[in-house]
This record gives sequence, structure tokens and C-alpha cells, in this order.
Amino acid sequence: MARVDVIRVKGGARLAGDVMVGGAKNSALKLMAVALLAEGRSVVANVPRITDIAIMAEVLRRLGCDVTLDGTEAVIDVPAEPGSEADYDLVRRLRASICVLGPLLARRGYVRVALPGGDMIGSRGLDMHVSGLARMGAEISGEHGFVIASAPGGLRGAKIWLDFPSVGATENILMAAVLAKGVTEIDNAAREPEIVDICEMLNAMGARIEGAGTSTLVIEGVPGPLKPVRHTTVGDRIVGGTWAYAAVMTRGDVTVQGVRPEFLDIALDKLATAGATIEPGENSFRVRTSERPRGVDIVTLPYPGFATDLLPMALGLASVAEGSSLITENIFDGRFMFVNEMVRLGADIRTDGHHAVVNGRDRLSGAPVRATDIRAGAGLVIAGLCADGVTEVGEVHHIDRGYPDFVADLARLGVEVERTDVPEPTFDF
Ligand code: EPU
Repeated sequence: MARVDVIRVKGGARLAGDVMVGGAKNSALKLMAVALLAEGRSVVANVPRITDIAIMAEVLRRLGCDVTLDGTEAVIDVPAEPGSEADYDLVRRLRASICVLGPLLARRGYVRVALPGGDMIGSRGLDMHVSGLARMGAEISGEHGFVIASAPGGLRGAKIWLDFPSVGATENILMAAVLAKGVTEIDNAAREPEIVDICEMLNAMGARIEGAGTSTLVIEGVPGPLKPVRHTTVGDRIVGGTWAYAAVMTRGDVTVQGVRPEFLDIALDKLATAGATIEPGENSFRVRTSERPRGVDIVTLPYPGFATDLLPMALGLASVAEGSSLITENIFDGRFMFVNEMVRLGADIRTDGHHAVVNGRDRLSGAPVRATDIRAGAGLVIAGLCADGVTEVGEVHHIDRGYPDFVADLARLGVEVERTDVPEPTFDF
């Protein structure tokens, strides 16, 4: 009989101690795609040991690269002429593989990437990726489930206004623009620290990008070739933020290492409003409280707003806080899908469109629940820390996509936790 992994946590622990956070998933995946822009060996250091990185390595191998994942380093040998096709079997497992579109179009002038399927957290279109590349002279069509882009005469610089500061669209356009003829300006660009990280790697390779971290990116195309480099991935602010929220929910005392606190300004400020003490360091911060948190209203927005990837932690905090909180999600239409699982844990949450009204309870109540995406999975385990009895979270492969050493870190911080396999339920008809 097939078996599946679950995580079981016993509620009631107060998280205490240090936790080390590695490189950001959403940076490292794209930095691996950036490597495609230069022939030779690039090394991306501080990559997290998670499933998504292993899938990205496979995407690159199928494009003709030699990729070794050695601890927290991805060593990528890129051939003179990488392939130009990314198949559905990999792209459906990792939506982020769409980020090979920009660099391959720039290097090969032709690319065929499978359309990623829907995602549990929302519809997630590609229209801004497509219209941005089209402005630069690419011809783009969709056929048999693939996006096909070609630029036989090469890409040329263009002025591009994004309707919304999409992370993925900003990255694809950026990676295509570095080798285009002329200057590209992206207005209303995403400003995430992961975008800055990508710009830094590209500039070290010989690209000319200005404005990283602002809403206007100016990319002066260079004739190339770009040179391979070694680059260290920025720390994962979402994993760091997850631990910060877990600390406050459990009235604990946690020092998060490896993440710059200014990348979590609003998220940490909300915790301070909830009653916690925050001590920022240079590449670390300490979060502690001994009181029950107070309810706070939270609205997700593109960076520097409150990150949508921390929405499950915001709902968790609100579920155990004193008083009521209004939580608003503005990025993904399906982000509240896991609310039913929180309700199984006894949370008092009502949603209406993209708003959730949460009345805090002193304790939640342990129950079997199911992860529906990476962040919801982590959020449910953490909510389980504030529940009476044992919470068993299923479908933990989602958590494996974004949180390296999650169970070991919880154990180190004082939680009674185990990961175990159970028989997969089967149904006879
Ligand atoms: N959108 C469009 N058209 C586009 C592009 C985006 O309509 O052409 C919409 C999407 O449907 C979505 C919104 O714009 O509603 C935001 O999309 P964005 O492009 O900003 O996000 P993404 O690049 O698909 C990345 C992260 C997400 C993170 C978001 C927002 C990666 C691999 N993923 O997604 O991370 O939530 O930015 O910050 O970088 C996660 O790590 O769990 C995760 C989902």
C-alpha cells in the first residue's frame, strides 16, 4: 500500500532559541535561470535544500546544462547553445520554470515553454510577461499548451509599463532586456529584495541595470557575451517571517539568523503592534513576547507591503490573538483556500471575497488537516503549535517545496514534532 508523509505537532510549546535561515527560494530559482545567460560555469551559493531547487536543476539539465547540487551550492555549466524547450512534465511541477523564457529568448532568439497549469492559490496569468516581451519585438503565440516566443532579428529596448508590479513579469523582461539592442525601461516594476538579488547577479555578469529596488528599472542592453559568475542568494525573508510569527503566536523568544530585518519591515511592525518586542540586528532579528498577542489588521500588497506569502501566518496570528482582526489579501484570489483547514483547528474565520474577519481564540484545537500550498502548509503546522493536543498535517510535500529542515528547526526550537509516513487512503468503488 502506498504511504504518504505527515507532520505531527503537539500544541503548547513556547518557541525559544536561534534558527538559521538559508537563501530565498524565490531568488535562487531565478538566479539559476540567470546563469543561462552566460556560457560556462556559474555558481549560485546559499540555495535552499528544497524540492523546487531540485526541479529547477532538472529543467536546466534538459536544456543541456550540467547541474550539480552540492550542499547549498548549485554549480551550473551552461553550454554555448542551450536548448530552447521546457516541457510540461517539469513546468507543471514548478510554475517558476516560466522564468527561463526571458533568458532563452535573449540567447537563442527562440523558445518554447509549456504553459504552467493553474495553481492552488489562484489564476496567475502570464499576460504581462507576454506583452512586455512583445514590446521588445518578440513574436509570441500559444499552441498545444506551449508559449512560443521568437525574435529572429534580436530583441530591442523598449519602454514597458506593467499594469501591476508582477514579480515574474519583471524578472522575465529584465532577463530578456540585458542582451537587447538599446535601452529598456520597466515602469511599475516589482521591488522585491529577490529582484535586487537578480539585478546584482546580472550586473556582475556584465549587464547594465540601474534602479534595482525601485519601481523604475533601466536596462542598457549590452552586446555580450556575459560572463559566468559566483553569486550568493539573499536570505529567505518569507521563511524568516514565518519563524517570527510562530514566535509571537507561541509567546516565545526566537532569534532569526540569515535575514535582514528591513526586508520584513511591515511584517515585524505588525508584530510589535500585536505586543511583541523586536530587536533588529544586521542580518538577524530577535522576536519575543510573553503575552497573548493582540489582534492587528493586515493587508497584503506587493513589496514593500505585507507579503502575500505570509498571509497564512497573519491568519494564524489573528486566530489566537485577543480581539478581532481584519485580514485582506490583494495578490492571489485563491489564497484563502486553506481557511477551511484553519476552521478545522477551531479558528473563527469568516471570509468575504478577499477579506477575512478573524475573532481570536485563546487556544485552537488539534485536528487532522491538509496543506494546500507551501505557505498554507507551514501556517497550519504553526497554528497546530497553539492547539490543544496533536495536529496532523497531510500533503506535506507542499511544505518541502519551500521550507528546508522545517521539522528539525521546530524540534530545535522546543516543539514535540515528528514526520512520519502513514498509509495513503484508498477508496474502492
Ligand atoms: N499576474 C497576472 N499576469 C501576469 C503576471 C501576474 O495577472 O502576467 C497576476 C497573478 O495572477 C497574481 C499576481 O499578478 O495574481 C501576482 O503575480 P506575480 O507575477 O507578482 O507573482 P509570481 O511571480 O507568479 C512570485 C512568487 C510567489 C509570490 C509572488 C508575489 C516565485 C516563484 N513565486 O510569484 O511565491 O507569492 O511572487 O510576491 O517567485 C511562494 O513562494 O509560495 C509563492 C507563491
